[in-house]
Amino acid sequence: MKIIFHGHSCFTIEAEGKSVLIDPFITGNPLAKVDAQELKPDVILLTHGHGDHLGDAISIAKRTGALVIAPNELAVYCQMQGVENVHPMHIGGAYQFDFGKVKLTQALHGSAVIDDKTIQYTGNPCGFLLTMEEKTIYHAGDTGLFGDMELIGRLNQIDAALLPIGDNFVMGIDDAVEAVKMLKPNIVVPMHYDTFEVIKQDPNKFKDKVEDLGFNCRVLQVGEDLII
Ligand code: NI
Ligand code: MN
Repeated sequence: MKIIFHGHSCFTIEAEGKSVLIDPFITGNPLAKVDAQELKPDVILLTHGHGDHLGDAISIAKRTGALVIAPNELAVYCQMQGVENVHPMHIGGAYQFDFGKVKLTQALHGSAVIDDKTIQYTGNPCGFLLTMEEKTIYHAGDTGLFGDMELIGRLNQIDAALLPIGDNFVMGIDDAVEAVKMLKPNIVVPMHYDTFEVIKQDPNKFKDKVEDLGFNCRVLQVGEDLII
């Protein structure tokens, strides 16, 4: 399984001959190195409706016909914008797709599509447990620290955890380290930092703290990948 980092919270997961794109914020991301037009996912997972997560999802889905999987209200929103292939889910629910299994986890955050004049709420935000090739990735979405990460860690053998560390809107470094203790993943990849001034962090500080606890951490540069 290949995990490619596109910056912020956006990753492509390649396994079983399929490409799963998570939270494709490419256009407008000052750190992005790929063009949204180059991405050809089979599936798009969306954690919530904020612009730095929904991003280019609708245009990519319309161009490629990719299946969009999201919390119900956000999936319906995408459908209303002309995305034909959507699969609504909600927190706590899992579904076995042809490419793998997806389960939605809670995330302590908001979810809305916001433009100049309006805020359209898009339900609850989520995280994802994605299982392909018998490997499970946990993408936490945007979230603060919550104690039920212990339950997620106990009920799932997590091969890779993708955790926000940017602070301000999501967990900061110290809270993300607490999350690692509960999730007990084989490897941790930090995300959701440096994109904007307000979420500047030194990911190597996080890496050092995670490694001091005896866990593996990999800081991915934008465009870099990790094979697990
Ligand atoms: Ni957000
Ligand atoms: Mn965000």
